[in-house]
Amino acid sequence: MADARPIGIFDSGLGGLTVVKEIIKLMPSENIVYFGDTGRVPYGTRSNETIKRYAKEDEEFLLSRSVKMVVAACGTVSSVASDMGKKLPVPYFEVVSPAAKEAVKSTKNKKIGILGTNATIASGEHKRQILELLPDAKVYTAGCTLFVPLVEEGWYKSDDVVVKTTVQRYLEDIKKAGVDTLILGCTHYPILKEVIGEYMGEGVTLINAGVSTAKSVKEYLTENDMLNESNEEGKREFYVSDKVGSFCKTASLLLGVEVEEEKATQVNIGNL
Ligand code: DGL
Repeated sequence: MADARPIGIFDSGLGGLTVVKEIIKLMPSENIVYFGDTGRVPYGTRSNETIKRYAKEDEEFLLSRSVKMVVAACGTVSSVASDMGKKLPVPYFEVVSPAAKEAVKSTKNKKIGILGTNATIASGEHKRQILELLPDAKVYTAGCTLFVPLVEEGWYKSDDVVVKTTVQRYLEDIKKAGVDTLILGCTHYPILKEVIGEYMGEGVTLINAGVSTAKSVKEYLTENDMLNESNEEGKREFYVSDKVGSFCKTASLLLGVEVEEEKATQVNIGNL
């Protein structure tokens, strides 16, 4: 039995589109409802209590759009508020476990770096999962607070001196530690992967959780006979909690397809 209901995906802002991109690549006919909480981004500098409240409202919004599954395409929510997600009435996917598993598979020297928001790093969730899988791994972390606002501002090009300097400043110690694998533990960070990759050098594998999360989603939908069986390209709806104009501009760049303003709607999720 095919299931044409959309996949619900959310993030604090634009970052979750890096997961959307991978899901579209693997499952082009899936319908997608995306919510970016652009009115309240960033999440990563807030308390766990606030992040959990926001996550609950985001998830309730997606459920109100009759989604068949919820994907927390946000490293911060995945680290701090996954317990709630697991209690939803539809299947729930997050981005921490796939990244931890992928990093363990990839490392040769057992030195793994983790980049994330302050809340993600403070949660210790990636580290805990890595050490469970590979107890003698050495883990190095960095909270990169300025990366999210840079990306939301559309500053991510590899020739931008501000971006380059910021990357260098946050990654200096991790580079010195000699990691061979680096988790981009916030879904905004793959947008900076060119600059991060150039700074870290060729021998370092960057882990984009979106890729492995998309694979897990596809596996689940296939095994449970929940794929949308249409041959047509899926419908994509975008919702944001602040103005749509700048979101659509950057979203088009990130997804590599035009996100017209008519496809995006501003909602006030606190008042559903
Ligand atoms: N994309 C979110 C994440 O993965 C950004 C969090 C934030 O808004 O600070 O953590």
